[in-house]
Amino acid sequence: MSGGILVIWGCLYGLQANDPVRVRCLGVNGAAPVRGELLYRGKAKSVYATDQPDLVIIHFRDDATAFDGRKRAEIPGKGAINNRISALLFAELARSGIATHFIRQLGPDTTLARAVRIIPLEVVVRNKVAGSLARRLGLPEGQPLARPVLEHYYKRDDLGDPLVNRDHIRALDIAPDEVVDRMEALARAANAVLVQRLARAGLELVDMKLEFGWAGEALLVADEISPDTTRVWDAATGARLDKDRFRRDLGPVLEGYQEILRRLEASEPAGGQAPGANDGGAEADRDQGDGLT
Ligand SMILES: Nc1ncnc2c1ncn2[C@@H]1O[C@H](COP(=O)(O)OP(=O)(O)OP(=O)(O)O)[C@@H](O)[C@H]1O
Ligand SMILES: [Mg+2]
Repeated sequence: MSGGILVIWGCLYGLQANDPVRVRCLGVNGAAPVRGELLYRGKAKSVYATDQPDLVIIHFRDDATAFDGRKRAEIPGKGAINNRISALLFAELARSGIATHFIRQLGPDTTLARAVRIIPLEVVVRNKVAGSLARRLGLPEGQPLARPVLEHYYKRDDLGDPLVNRDHIRALDIAPDEVVDRMEALARAANAVLVQRLARAGLELVDMKLEFGWAGEALLVADEISPDTTRVWDAATGARLDKDRFRRDLGPVLEGYQEILRRLEASEPAGGQAPGANDGGAEADRDQGDGLT
């Protein structure tokens, strides 16, 4: 009986605090959010409404695309691996006090997230030169950057997600200056956290693409953080383990993604419960179409 009281208290507390505890409570007695209509089918994920207007279910599919969709494949198992990696990395951000849309992993290839209004501005953070930056500036891939380099890309598939600067962002009225400032600060903070997290797994975060969205007044890191949206190299050998394997035929794609997940799982903080462990769970290419980049 006292257990029941605790659960009820926990739910009330969560409702008051408007935090993920609330949604955990919805899973009690099987009352998990019910998947509703398909809201958006992207190149790699599908987003579904739920019976609660502030929540969405994200389905990570096995589809892989690069070069603005000109290269396509299905990689069986990719969706589940990306879902799991993204869950682990969003949980790490949450532990560091960075607000994200992630609530919990629902199943092997599905995640429950807060519904957000996506800001059509992608933020790329780079720690080493790679991809389009190497081409654009004539620098060798792998050259360290003295401090992380941020870039903005206008999220417009029909334009190929072009690189934009602050004046372009103002001209297009994508977001006010102070919001872009906050996105940059969040991107730098998330990068610092994830560089450390991946280093603990013997991995190097070379670069990543982040998306942001509004949930009411809250500015949240959204979308996914996975080998599809980051460059992750083996810290010891420099081997590419991410989507560059797919873009450039650098080796078996799924194996690279699996290796990232294996190392992340092996280096999860002791005592820290993996997100969604009880729930049955468990592009960066931009200009010239190479993704992050
Ligand atoms: N919490 C969220 N609420 C609403 N939409 C979201 C949320 N998280 C991510 N999205 C959006 O859902 C879509 C996910 O699909 P996917 O990543 O496959 O798209 P995509 O083909 O890469 O398209 P895009 O180039 O627009 O990202 C993206 O447009 C992303 O911005
Ligand atoms: Mg995407």
